[in-house]
Amino acid sequence: MMYNVLIADPLNAVGILPLKNAKNIHVVVDTGLSAIQLHDKISEFDALIVRSQTQVTRLLLENASRLKIIGRAGVGVDNIDIEAATELGIMVVNAPNANTNSAAEHTMAMILALSRKIPQAYYALKNHQWDRKKYIGVEVRGKTLGIVGLGRIGAEVASRAKGQRMKVIAYDPFLSPEKAAKMGIEYGMLEEVLRVSDFITVHTPLLKETRHLINAQAFELMKPGVQIINCARGGIIDEDALYEAILSNKVAGAALDVFEEEPISHHKLLDLPEVIATPHLGASTIEAQENVAVDVSEDILNFFSGSIVRHP
Ligand code: NAD
Ligand code: MLT
Repeated sequence: MMYNVLIADPLNAVGILPLKNAKNIHVVVDTGLSAIQLHDKISEFDALIVRSQTQVTRLLLENASRLKIIGRAGVGVDNIDIEAATELGIMVVNAPNANTNSAAEHTMAMILALSRKIPQAYYALKNHQWDRKKYIGVEVRGKTLGIVGLGRIGAEVASRAKGQRMKVIAYDPFLSPEKAAKMGIEYGMLEEVLRVSDFITVHTPLLKETRHLINAQAFELMKPGVQIINCARGGIIDEDALYEAILSNKVAGAALDVFEEEPISHHKLLDLPEVIATPHLGASTIEAQENVAVDVSEDILNFFSGSIVRHP
């Protein structure tokens, strides 16, 4: 029996090779497909591998008559209609641990770049402006970092922030004050985290419950001068509310790796000097891209050989 595998988003070669080497797998790498082209092709495939770009909708899945497994080379599965996949008996696997470290490091880089206005100063200097007064930052030492969502990445960020001598307070429905104490951080309900933090970073998945979790009401509760970081998912923070909170000086700065719609080239938030941004680079390291590719291809191979799938 031959299985056709479509790789629809860029995947590191270390993940593609083992699939290509398998005798019962035929691999097609086609990363430039439009939604319509993918819809027309999908019925030929037994497995589909994506990152965050390809939208795996119910409509697509209903046309995927052969599809048995979807591999998400990354963590967030918000681009996949999990409910539809489950109803149609299609397994979804991801790579939950593979880019944790990279995403945590990127978050720390964003916190430090934000606090010292490094991107703004760099941009000015590249444009021949030597200005030492305009780019006065704040130290992070002694400041409170509020973490919303203390899963894999949130916990790694907490431990790094402690290394920067920050106080850490976190909210997560699965966190208890005892567990927080063991990690050397404080536990708070969401409202408290929002009220006391100098920097707030979100690390939840994008779910119905977390969409616009950080909205106008949440910004109301925050300290004036708070700085916001989102290296998780666009949509967790209400972008219009963030824009207004920056204009009103409630929020002093924001570091965004992710946006409600991606990709973007123009966005009103990008026009604000208080906002620094990267184009969804949290997992863009050589290590993370190798790890996600290996994890997801291993699970696809396991699935077709009848072995245990590690990350269903
Ligand atoms: P995880 O599942 O280990 O942790 C998520 C945590 O969020 C869990 O502990 C969960 O209990 C918590 N949570 C859920 N609902 C919540 C709520 N309403 N309030 C507070 N906490 C809530 O996931 P992770 O590996 O830490 O990744 C988190 C997210 O980061 C992913 O879902 C993905 O979208 C995003 N991510 C982005 C990048 C990037 O490139 N920017 C890279 C990796 C992951
Ligand atoms: C993830 O959820 O793993 C990240 O957003 C990175 C990616 O999409 O590749």
